[in-house]
Amino acid sequence: MMKTTRRSLVLSGAAAILSIAGEQLFRPGVLNAQTDKVVNVYSARHYDNDRKLYQSFQSETGIRVNWVEADADKLIERIRSEGGNSPADILLTVDGGRLWRAQEAGLLKPVRSSVLTKAIPPSLREPSGHWFGISKRARVLVYNKSKVSPSELSTYEDLASGKWKGRLVSRSSTHVYNQSLLGAIIAASGEKAASAWVRGIVGNFAIPPEGNDTAQIRLVSSGRGDITFVNHYYLARLAESIKPDEQAIARSVGLFFPNQRLRGTHVNISGAGLVKTSKNQGAAIRFLEYLVGRTSQVLLSQGNNEYPVVAGTPLDPTVARYGRFIEDPVNAAVFGKNNNLALRIADQAGWK
Ligand SMILES: [Fe+2]
Repeated sequence: MMKTTRRSLVLSGAAAILSIAGEQLFRPGVLNAQTDKVVNVYSARHYDNDRKLYQSFQSETGIRVNWVEADADKLIERIRSEGGNSPADILLTVDGGRLWRAQEAGLLKPVRSSVLTKAIPPSLREPSGHWFGISKRARVLVYNKSKVSPSELSTYEDLASGKWKGRLVSRSSTHVYNQSLLGAIIAASGEKAASAWVRGIVGNFAIPPEGNDTAQIRLVSSGRGDITFVNHYYLARLAESIKPDEQAIARSVGLFFPNQRLRGTHVNISGAGLVKTSKNQGAAIRFLEYLVGRTSQVLLSQGNNEYPVVAGTPLDPTVARYGRFIEDPVNAAVFGKNNNLALRIADQAGWK
């Protein structure tokens, strides 16, 4: 017999259990579907603050939040294979590239909500309402302070110039963050220029791409490379670490917002959309709207040192110290859509 838990109570043992990554999700029964008193979230984010947010939504609205956490591609594949029977109401994930992929696969349903369109700047949401940015991240330059002066820094484009030969390190182009960055460069300058840029940066690599964004910061701190490009929160995380060696790494490097005089720094999003086959659409839309409320914006951005999407939300103190910057206004849907092309260009130009 099913063990009665906090989450299963509402279902009175009526439902099948699904499980991903150790979390349990109870398939909504008839009761839940009719009363709209539950929302099932498939999330690729793994932060304690997100769980606090679910709790706060639940206590404010009386709508129970069930959630599963797994890798974004697995969640997208899961919704696809579950088809019309999917219990998912909301897909929550990071990167415009992945949200675009879910949209392309026909898994998301457009939402019209003036709460969402008023709160979220147009560049951070899909124009037809398939998905909405709920927090944002800047892809910044991080440099070794003893080897590079900020006065030498300007743009992503400049990283392809000869002065960085043997000094640049980067994550693989197979990662969605770099595909989105390259997607934004394609949007701004076209395929030919993007391809030339990739050839330039590959020619400047100190070592072949390896490791995640944090690994790139470590390489720059240790002197294996002088400069890299990463999402800003990885540096903030090191700065706020309780480990002295990680704090030392953060102190040894500087953060620079590139392209301030040329279109702005590339900004990506965490975002959410309504699953097309959702059985709890009313609750799901309320949940989406809750994500842009004050409580959510503070929890979402501070839990992962991200930037809020809603103006006026206080920043995490470490992130606030990085200062203000101009953002590339290109819509996340544009660089999301460019992801496949970006990967092809990167591949052809030798960015592993
Ligand atoms: Fe990340």
